[in-house]
Amino acid sequence: MNNLSEIIRREAAQRGVLSFARFMELALYCPVHGYYETKKDNPGRHGDFYTSVGAGELFGQLLAFQFAEWLETLNPQPSTLNLVEAGAHDGRLAKDILAWLQSNRPELLDQIEYWIIEPSARRQEWQGETLREFAPRVRWFAGFQSLLQERTCHSSPATRHPPLRGVIFSNELLDAMPVHRFGWDAQNKKWFEWGVTVDGEKFAWAKIPDPLAPRSGERAGARGTFENSPSSIFHLPSSLLAVLPDGYTIETCPAAESWWREAAGILERGKLMTIDYGLTADERFSPSRTRGTLRAYFRHHAGDDILANIGEQDLTAHVNFSAIQAAGESVGLRTEMFSTQSQFLTGILEKASKDNFFGEWTPAQARQFQTLTHPEHLGRAFRVLVQSR
Ligand SMILES: C[S@@+](CC[C@H](N)C(=O)[O-])C[C@H]1O[C@@H](n2cnc3c(N)ncnc32)[C@H](O)[C@@H]1O
Repeated sequence: MNNLSEIIRREAAQRGVLSFARFMELALYCPVHGYYETKKDNPGRHGDFYTSVGAGELFGQLLAFQFAEWLETLNPQPSTLNLVEAGAHDGRLAKDILAWLQSNRPELLDQIEYWIIEPSARRQEWQGETLREFAPRVRWFAGFQSLLQERTCHSSPATRHPPLRGVIFSNELLDAMPVHRFGWDAQNKKWFEWGVTVDGEKFAWAKIPDPLAPRSGERAGARGTFENSPSSIFHLPSSLLAVLPDGYTIETCPAAESWWREAAGILERGKLMTIDYGLTADERFSPSRTRGTLRAYFRHHAGDDILANIGEQDLTAHVNFSAIQAAGESVGLRTEMFSTQSQFLTGILEKASKDNFFGEWTPAQARQFQTLTHPEHLGRAFRVLVQSR
């Protein structure tokens, strides 16, 4: 067992069975040995998977064009505008966006502060290196709470709301958040939760028979989120439950929903946007998806050996877009768009072409656009949700 496995093993030994969400949190985000703390080359050719950012600068350039259009309608005087990115990893997307704005919208860029929400000090450092040339314009916050504290300290009591005007966005952030994994017990007509336990030198799946019961060592309220969350599987229609095969597996991600609500909470005016692969509530229940969407990625191969290779492989599950959409609407956001990445980027390109913004394309740009929008590449599986206030 490596150091990370040892940390998880100790915690599992104390608690008996860990929820899978806790296992995933430690595997990916343990502050010392977690996958995302140690794998700077990921995503990328030398890592385990690609994202749209790795296709080339065009992705960031198209987003920058769209963000500029959105920001220009916000009329910021006298305050500044914000572009807020979460899940910035090594800062490449931020660099592509800022570089495009600098070349094409310098006067708008002068009004923008680029904020990065990044809980990890190590990743903040990676991002700082990539963004050195934009240093005065970029600020980091460990989370929404620290951002809120700062804002409320500097505002008068009369303006004690988060005066953030701008765009908060992420690419492949929500799919990297810890999920709970459930199985359907057809005989007893109820859900059980899949937890993780120690089996000699390895980890093994273990059933938690009553997922809603309070469990020792779990954060207060963590269980309750299953029932109250818009993605709750505990209120499905009986007609659907009657046909679910025994063992039907599904994930829920209360962490992604609360993250989205928090992001919505700091937005006074502007857009909240995410791009990711995922499904709507209806699409989640399909005869072709009886084993859920949780996958491990190791050297560009997707695998089902989720509990192996701890800290060396990525773990990810499809985003439940209906739950995210409902989370935003529950705190007052309006849904503006839910589309495929292909439709979204093609729409941006059409608008940009009217002003000849991207000029004559090089073969490399054409290849990048093809990768980003072709249905067999990233165009169909990736979806874009835009909400606004
Ligand atoms: C799949 S990677 C995507 C990286 C990059 N956005 C891209 O598209 O190439 C997910 C990133 O989200 C980060 N992340 C996960 N939870 C986060 C959170 N609560 N706040 C900020 N970043 C987070 C991870 O550390 C990782 O860098």
